[in-house]
Amino acid sequence: KVKAFIFDLDGVIVDTAKYHYLAWKKIANQLDIDFTHEHNELLKGVSRVRSLDIILELGKIEASQQDKNNWLIQKNEDYLSYLVDMDESEILPGVMPVLKYLKANHQKIALGSASKNARPILEKTGILDYFDAIVDGNDVSNAKPDPEVFIRAAQLLGASNEDSIVFEDSVAGVQAANIAHMKSIGIGEKSVLHEANHIFHDFTSIETSFIDQLINN
Ligand code: G6P
Ligand code: MG
Repeated sequence: KVKAFIFDLDGVIVDTAKYHYLAWKKIANQLDIDFTHEHNELLKGVSRVRSLDIILELGKIEASQQDKNNWLIQKNEDYLSYLVDMDESEILPGVMPVLKYLKANHQKIALGSASKNARPILEKTGILDYFDAIVDGNDVSNAKPDPEVFIRAAQLLGASNEDSIVFEDSVAGVQAANIAHMKSIGIGEKSVLHEANHIFHDFTSIETSFIDQLINN
């Protein structure tokens, strides 16, 4: 039976969630909106357009399309400036051993990310070759919690939804996996990701016996 191991990118494979946060915070502060880490949880896994709308809703601000476009450009430029020197050191602890273990066991791996910057990040960190399929923000029209991105990834790998396993750090992503009847593995805080089927603080706490179970069940 083919299993699909689907990884979110930001906050799961690489520590870019902090850069998204910094870039959004700058925009929010410009608009006199108080932007906390709790607010930021609402943006994780969410497309950039939707993220900006959420921030404007927080500040009860109505803006023209022109202003919104400018802020979106500014946010992405600022975000990309944090990625200029990116290399494999930005890969989160424990991720490489899991990717390598899956490869050694002939498992299929996909990326399922809302980001339009996904490919350059995989290239910069040198792990593009680990992925049998990549579905990112350029490929899908419905943002998480809509499961489109994960369903596409499973299809590309030839696995059923039930045989797909999703690694996610965002509430929206965990919900997307659950809606698609995929196995959701939350990476992060239990209090935030309680809807996930399994929760780990990070990849270093995932044992190979657990991966074996995922492969064989
Ligand atoms: C991921 C991140 C979000 C980000 C979204 C779009 O899901 O968790 O914080 O807004 O991707 O990313 P992009 O790189 O296209 O702005
Ligand atoms: Mg994420």
